[in-house]
Amino acid sequence: MRDLERCLIFCALLASVYAACPSRCECSEAAHTVKCVSKDLRSIPTGIPGYTRNLFITGNQIGRIGPESFIGLENVTTLSLSNNRISEVESQTFARLRNLRALDLSNNQLAIIHPEAFTVQNQSLRELNLSRALYNHSSVMDLATSLRWSSLGALQVLDLSHNSLILLPARIFSHLLNLRHLQLSNNSLVAIHNSTFQGLEKLEELDLSQNALKTVGEEGIQELDYIPRTTLLLGNNPFMCKCGIESFTLWVNRSQARIWDIDRLVCAFPVSMRNTSLLEAGKLTLGCHQRDAGGDLALQTSYVFLGLVLGFIGLIFLFVLYLNRKGIKKRIYDMRDACREVWEGYHYRFEIDSDPRLSQVSTAADV
Ligand SMILES: *[C@@H]1O[C@H](CO)[C@@H](O)[C@H](O)[C@H]1NC(C)=O
Ligand SMILES: *[C@@H]1O[C@H](CO)[C@@H](O)[C@H](O)[C@H]1NC(C)=O
Ligand SMILES: *[C@@H]1O[C@H](CO)[C@@H](O)[C@H](O)[C@H]1NC(C)=O
Ligand SMILES: *[C@@H]1O[C@H](CO)[C@@H](O)[C@H](O)[C@H]1NC(C)=O
Ligand SMILES: *[C@@H]1O[C@H](CO)[C@@H](O)[C@H](O)[C@H]1NC(C)=O
Ligand SMILES: *[C@@H]1O[C@H](CO)[C@@H](O)[C@H](O)[C@H]1NC(C)=O
Ligand SMILES: *[C@@H]1O[C@H](CO)[C@@H](O)[C@H](O)[C@H]1NC(C)=O
Ligand SMILES: *[C@@H]1O[C@H](CO)[C@@H](O)[C@H](O)[C@H]1NC(C)=O
Repeated sequence: MRDLERCLIFCALLASVYAACPSRCECSEAAHTVKCVSKDLRSIPTGIPGYTRNLFITGNQIGRIGPESFIGLENVTTLSLSNNRISEVESQTFARLRNLRALDLSNNQLAIIHPEAFTVQNQSLRELNLSRALYNHSSVMDLATSLRWSSLGALQVLDLSHNSLILLPARIFSHLLNLRHLQLSNNSLVAIHNSTFQGLEKLEELDLSQNALKTVGEEGIQELDYIPRTTLLLGNNPFMCKCGIESFTLWVNRSQARIWDIDRLVCAFPVSMRNTSLLEAGKLTLGCHQRDAGGDLALQTSYVFLGLVLGFIGLIFLFVLYLNRKGIKKRIYDMRDACREVWEGYHYRFEIDSDPRLSQVSTAADV
């Protein structure tokens, strides 16, 4: 009986140790899941069980995370840290989570991102969610550096939507050689420059909708042609349908098949063309030919001027002729007489030449 009691106590103790769970968190060993949601935590709690594969620490007030935040959690594959007011991610923070596949840092205020912030031993990371995660556009240089230095060669999905990004630094994605999906929607991108999409040979989907693109210039078109197999979303940009957008509308027409939201590519300005599809706008003149028409007009004007000058010269010529009409008449008569004399002389000689007897004489003499 006492053995049974002892066993029961021991078993209960064992169970409680085995099922240890940080206070303010909920742990489910069967589901390998731990959740610490909206508990006003100021740091990552200690004592998270080693069996954890899915770890959700969301809606707290954790300002900073570093390598000491995640110890003994080698089994974690999915880590969500969204909505925690995190402003700083130190180097190697996730390095020891060597089975980590999906990291969600969305809805934070990242201002300082260290160069190797996203490094994971074994390069296991497949998905990185940084939606609404950056404090402001100034963080983009830190971000670019850490995307290059964090050995993210296996990353397939990167969400950078809702981040107030204005311009993307050259080669920001150049080390993400396996990226398939890139979300850049609802930023403030105004242009796409050279080398922006360099390295994204495997990209399948690129979302550039809800940005601030008024047009896409030659460099941007070149960049989009650099990833010809990628489907694109470009809707809800404030396209400016005036002269200068023509090469882009031609490109849109040419690339229709891979622009999934082609119906949403409409003019925002000028007001008279609002809601006109870019495809339709491409067929209109957009005022670009006005300059050519102006050129034509100048040409026509110069022709008219030339005509007037020639006409004037012609008039003067006729007037001079009129003034000299008597002298000219006399000269014409003289000329006529001279011609007659010449003609008569010629006629006479012809008669002699065509006389057969005379010609026979001459041939006989030759022989
Ligand atoms: C990770 O999971 C494996 C298998 O479930 C287990 O043997 C190992 O102890 C776990 N690691 C830790 C640190 O608990
Ligand atoms: C990233 O997180 C946001 C919200 O936190 C979610 O809406 C979005 O779908 C996530 N992105 C991906 C690619 O899962
Ligand atoms: C590294 O990843 C591979 C699969 O990608 C996995 O089989 C292996 O166990 C991982 N190594 C470690 C040390 O976690
Ligand atoms: C971003 O925030 C920092 C700190 O408040 C500020 O110094 C910087 O000017 C901001 N950058 C932009 C682009 O707003
Ligand atoms: C776009 O992002 C801004 C913040 O950057 C947010 O206020 C707005 O709701 C977002 N729009 C959509 C449609 O998600
Ligand atoms: C972009 O590349 C083109 C040629 O590919 C070059 O002519 C142009 O100067 C480059 N622009 C910048 C800003 O480097
Ligand atoms: C443009 O289209 C949207 C929805 O399709 C509509 O709400 C808006 O009134 C239209 N604007 C104009 C100027 O036609
Ligand atoms: C779009 O391309 C087609 C051929 O693919 C052509 O017939 C049509 O005229 C083009 N439209 C414009 C506006 O350039």
